Amino acid sequence: MRAYYPSDPAADVPASAPERPAPWAETSVVGKPLPRVDGYECVSGTAVYTRDVALPGMLHAAVVRCPHAHARVKRVDTARAASLPGVRAILTGDSPGAGLPWYFAAGGATSRLLDPHCRHEGEEVAAVAAESLEQARDAARAIEVEYETLPFVIDPAEALKPGAPPIHEGGNQVREREAYERGDVEKGFAEADHVLQETYRTPCEIHTPLEVHGSVARWDGDRLTVWDSTQGVFGVQEQLARCLELPLSHVRVVGSYMGGGFGSKLELGKYTVIAALLARQTGHPVKLFLTREESFLCAGNRPANTLTLKAGVKADGTLTALQLTGLGSSGAYPSGSGTGYQVADLYLCPNVRIVETDAYINAGRARPMRAPGFPQCSWALEQTMDALAERIGMDPVTLRLKNVPNVSQRRGGQPYTSTGLSRCLEQGARAFDWEEARRRPREHGPILRGVGVAACIWGYTGQPVSTAIVKCHADGSCDLTLGASDLGTGTKTVMAMVVAEELGLPIERIRIEHADTGTTPYAVPSGGSQTVLVNAPAVRAAAVEVKRQILELAAAQLGCPAAALGLRDGAVVGPGETRLVLKDLKGLQQQRVLVGVGRRHPHPEGKVALPFAAQFAEVEVDTRTGEVCVRRLLGAHDSGRVMNRLTYDNQVFGGMAMGLGFAMTEARVLDPETGRMLNANWSDYRIPTAKDVPAEPVCLPVDPEDAECNSVGAKGLGEPATIPTAAAIANAVYHATGIRVTEPSIDPSQLVRRLAERRERG
Ligand code: MOS
Repeated sequence: MRAYYPSDPAADVPASAPERPAPWAETSVVGKPLPRVDGYECVSGTAVYTRDVALPGMLHAAVVRCPHAHARVKRVDTARAASLPGVRAILTGDSPGAGLPWYFAAGGATSRLLDPHCRHEGEEVAAVAAESLEQARDAARAIEVEYETLPFVIDPAEALKPGAPPIHEGGNQVREREAYERGDVEKGFAEADHVLQETYRTPCEIHTPLEVHGSVARWDGDRLTVWDSTQGVFGVQEQLARCLELPLSHVRVVGSYMGGGFGSKLELGKYTVIAALLARQTGHPVKLFLTREESFLCAGNRPANTLTLKAGVKADGTLTALQLTGLGSSGAYPSGSGTGYQVADLYLCPNVRIVETDAYINAGRARPMRAPGFPQCSWALEQTMDALAERIGMDPVTLRLKNVPNVSQRRGGQPYTSTGLSRCLEQGARAFDWEEARRRPREHGPILRGVGVAACIWGYTGQPVSTAIVKCHADGSCDLTLGASDLGTGTKTVMAMVVAEELGLPIERIRIEHADTGTTPYAVPSGGSQTVLVNAPAVRAAAVEVKRQILELAAAQLGCPAAALGLRDGAVVGPGETRLVLKDLKGLQQQRVLVGVGRRHPHPEGKVALPFAAQFAEVEVDTRTGEVCVRRLLGAHDSGRVMNRLTYDNQVFGGMAMGLGFAMTEARVLDPETGRMLNANWSDYRIPTAKDVPAEPVCLPVDPEDAECNSVGAKGLGEPATIPTAAAIANAVYHATGIRVTEPSIDPSQLVRRLAERRERG
């Protein structure tokens, strides 16, 4: 799909891939609502996040950033800064290493680490390392930069017009238009009883993870160690090694506790390379973390999109054609931004055409953000489904149920391992009391009430590459070693549960080592909702291997077949009263450690495993103020097996809260006069608070027991949890008011104006 989600490397899977364990019949640990294994550390403040890392002799860095939307650096004067107390090193575009190529588009490098051509507000111009953070920031302010300001463009449509300010050589269109086509849409529209077309716009949303982006870099001779707040230590290691021309073995990237990423920490950041260069220059470890304001400008976003969707439907609810035309922008640098997947795959439709264009603008660049492209598409597609249902006089749930596919049309008709979409819609509607809620009176004095639904699919199957190591010590306690990062989603907890399940061990006796390229085996980045479904099977395979060794040793000692034995409560158990605690297992006592290595098996051949969801919203609209209050949210999810009900609920509640922000309040605002961001702070950029989300959101796992998707039966959850929320809320607002919000946000001032206009028209 895009670079962060490489296509399934079927050819890379070793032919001797180990036999895949059979699906669990019954589980005793997996699926239980167990609290986080690191919950105490997180809430007590003893957990060390990358932001907390402090090394002896460590210096602090600060970055000089371009204050203009588009400018050329003419002169950088560091004399005054260099004379300030505590300053140890200054990096400018002329320093060794500062010109290394950055951002690659088709045809080669499009930018440099410290590039004199600044293409958006906040681009890195120079950096300082000093003894204290305050000294570093003072020195950064003392660096004098002379800019030649350039004309700028912040609107993608304007950027594509002739004569627009050129942002890169070769024009402002990022690449050839992305197109997808099947069937014959013109024929499909001709066959339709009704054809609707509407243009929807979505906001540019910022990730704003609690922990900002940053790294600590330390050199030992020509070996570099970096502590990075990242979703994927191995990706950062690889990109850093390439940048600095070092062997992988000379670059160690260490993850820690993490305060979220949402996709903005899937790749190497400039801050990491700048810290590494300053550390090399000074011979001291260097820490560089973005400020909150910098993270708004330079750490990525979900790009704004304009999506025109044309849809044809027969009177009986059969979809005949869907056509999506999209215009978006990745900002000043290329980044995948396709939105069309769901148009091609969520509902049965023989005729589909998708054409998407991406333009450079003078603004911070996009990065993948929690289901990149999907919430945008959902805003258009699911509001369109709502409008189609109304047009043909059909219930919106019924219309969707009528068009549920059981094969992936976008993937050449491959069947799904499980399709829980119908169950999500049916069970969700029942739990939400949908039909009754649709019928209830809408008017309550000045308050209008309404309910809405939206469904989704998530389109990434995960890269089936992961290796895990389980070690069983002489006392029967275990270490699990895994390369994956835990973004704060509970990865460590779920993986420990898998080990506890197989080895019959209390979860407290498992120690977890994770996300360190120096000590843990390779793992793909924790993104694309793949963390559990890619890693848990490898963890399970490693635990199963250790179990095999334990049982074989026990069988020899007890003189019975291994197949008759099992593991429970830290002991080998067998027929009758047979019970052998691991401390009495002779083979283990001699070896002192048993080691199992597990690998992820390939995806099932000829089938595709993807998650589905349906979400339901109830809103109240105050017609006097236009204020929208989201009273109820229910997420019905088919993500396969529930590994841990608490972390599962966390994902769904968090995803719906984020979707609520996308629908209502979150939007980057760029000043048309200057091209600069007007709300690059947590006060003016409004993410939902506890007061904005329903008091009791509902999570309804729809568990279809997928025995085929992988050996643990789980599909992805993190991203589908946020895809349909905004559209469900918009559909509820329509149900309440009859007003269709096609604009980026459900904005009270707009809503109150439209309600007033309608009253005047009578
Ligand atoms: Mo996600 S956008 O793959 O972290």
